[in-house]
Amino acid sequence: MKVSLTLFATLLVYVVFGLEPETTVVPLDKDQVKEELNEIISLIPRDNITEIANSHLAHDEGFRAAIYYMQQPEWRAMVDSIRANPKWIAFKEMVSKFGLDIDQLIKCTKTFIENANVGDVDPKANRSLAAFVKDVEGVIPIGQMLVTFGKNKNLQNMLQHIQTDESKAVVVDALNIPEVKKYVQELSDMELNVKEVLTFVFAALGWGNFESA
Ligand SMILES: *[C@@H]1O[C@H](CO)[C@@H](O)[C@H](O)[C@H]1NC(C)=O
Ligand SMILES: *[C@@H]1O[C@H](CO)[C@@H](O)[C@H](O)[C@H]1NC(C)=O
Repeated sequence: MKVSLTLFATLLVYVVFGLEPETTVVPLDKDQVKEELNEIISLIPRDNITEIANSHLAHDEGFRAAIYYMQQPEWRAMVDSIRANPKWIAFKEMVSKFGLDIDQLIKCTKTFIENANVGDVDPKANRSLAAFVKDVEGVIPIGQMLVTFGKNKNLQNMLQHIQTDESKAVVVDALNIPEVKKYVQELSDMELNVKEVLTFVFAALGWGNFESA
């Protein structure tokens, strides 16, 4: 997991800082951004990921324990409380301007969790998403996605809009919601290192250190 994340981060930093510095920020063409983003997202093999998830449900005790935990009322209450928070809504609206539909992603995840048959879960089993994430990383064509990104001017323009202090403030506000902090910590406890990913994203966007934001 570390290797491919680090590779991803390095490439992302390279792509972002490899951009020609522009003196004026060009207005966003929303439709174009959405189209180019869809081109990249369509490279993610969803069927393969579903297959991987089902295989882990069948064979991976740590994954089963994690999904079982996410099926419990406490977890659902935490997610619902995040989604109702005005700071989260502001964040969601900001990224929707960039063509990203977070609700869609949440809905897919929620449907999977609710429908997952975890079978008999050992209450003492350690929750872990590590093996699942490692397998998912194996089917995501990161190189191809970055090449596609590099070809798309509107997406690069979008990055310049995201790099602003205003955008950073919205993201930091959302990350500081107590339930979001708890969520990030819980996922880290399940060996899904969200903090590492956030650290990379902050560095790539030139936002400084995520931990001190
Ligand atoms: C869970 O993890 C702890 C700490 O790594 C370990 O000591 C324990 O044996 C594990 N429990 C099971 C059921 O694997
Ligand atoms: C995705 O699944 C299809 C059908 O099972 C398979 O042919 C293909 O090789 C898989 N792709 C990857 C990247 O594993």
